[in-house]
Amino acid sequence: MSQPAPNPAPSAISLTRYLIEEQRGGRISADLRLLIEVVARACKTISIAVGKGALGGVLGDAGTGNIQGEAQKKLDVIANDVLLEANAWGGHLAGLASEEMDHSQPISDLAPDGSPRGNYLLLFDPLDGSSNIDVNISVGTIFSVLRCPDGVTTPGDEHYLQPGTAQVAAGYCTYGPSTMLVLTVGNGTHAFTLDREVGGFVLTTRGMMIPEETKEFAVNVSNQRYWQPPMQRYIGDLLAGKEGPRGKDFNMRWVASMVADVHRILTRGGIFSYPLDAKCIDKGGKLRLMYEANPMSFLVEQAGGAASTGRARMMEVQPHHLHQRVPVFLGSKREVEAAVRYHVEHDAAVPA
Ligand code: AHG
Ligand code: MN
Ligand code: MN
Repeated sequence: MSQPAPNPAPSAISLTRYLIEEQRGGRISADLRLLIEVVARACKTISIAVGKGALGGVLGDAGTGNIQGEAQKKLDVIANDVLLEANAWGGHLAGLASEEMDHSQPISDLAPDGSPRGNYLLLFDPLDGSSNIDVNISVGTIFSVLRCPDGVTTPGDEHYLQPGTAQVAAGYCTYGPSTMLVLTVGNGTHAFTLDREVGGFVLTTRGMMIPEETKEFAVNVSNQRYWQPPMQRYIGDLLAGKEGPRGKDFNMRWVASMVADVHRILTRGGIFSYPLDAKCIDKGGKLRLMYEANPMSFLVEQAGGAASTGRARMMEVQPHHLHQRVPVFLGSKREVEAAVRYHVEHDAAVPA
């Protein structure tokens, strides 16, 4: 005889309960709790759109481009609109900025007349991993929360230019075989899985910890000939395996969705890198500091890992531009330190 489906564990902790407990513990404000709940709700909506795939008419190009000169997919635009609409009227934000928008938007330009204005700034990459949308591989949403500077009522782009250490929350949602929200409010990194029947996120890993050592790296090796010397030497030594100076064999994974690659690293360790290369050197790197590198660095550091540009701690970089790009190395602490060592040794040997 078949067994009845088990009831949800009575001890299951919903995202709402987790956030209320953080608020009661004095670690987050009521407004930040509301903000995270609203972002999570928007991610559920995006998850449904992603999941419909061809049946929802959401695949393919939008026929438009963003300020960074990238062609937009339909889902880039849909996800951006969902996040804008969800956050416009809650009263928790002073403004928001997106990888897909030319400039930040003060909330007064988005909310219905008379809506209250909050004290937080929200930044997001609405759809990360766009090249994977049409081939049914995991994509995600990344977000970062800053405080609006005191006395600023209508924030402009310059008010978002705060280092990653100023973040009060960061997270991502991965739309994969399951939809998961991974979140930090500065008190550890925690994973929540979407219960699709109930429609809510449930805490499934409290206190993610990245192993300090790893034998796995993630990098787009097709760019190898464009890399700079320290990166050439670093990856060369990883590829040399047991016979090389690192004395062990490494495995490689590259999904080309940062969310998916970082999720693997938060789960089982590894190092993720998108270094400077000759193709992106004029822009300072490929990945965006404010929408990708900083929120992921906050999550990784809160899970015991490290995040660097190769020469400086990522979260201490002072941003100069909303859409600024940076080289990225993040993941298992010892391996990120090893990658940094290759850069330091190179710089020490080359006269300035
Ligand atoms: P986005 O889709 O938001 O533009 O980001 C794509 C990023 C990141 O997710 C991924 O790690 C990287 O671009 C992949 O780059 P390559 O296609 O050069 O490998
Ligand atoms: Mn991205
Ligand atoms: Mn994107």
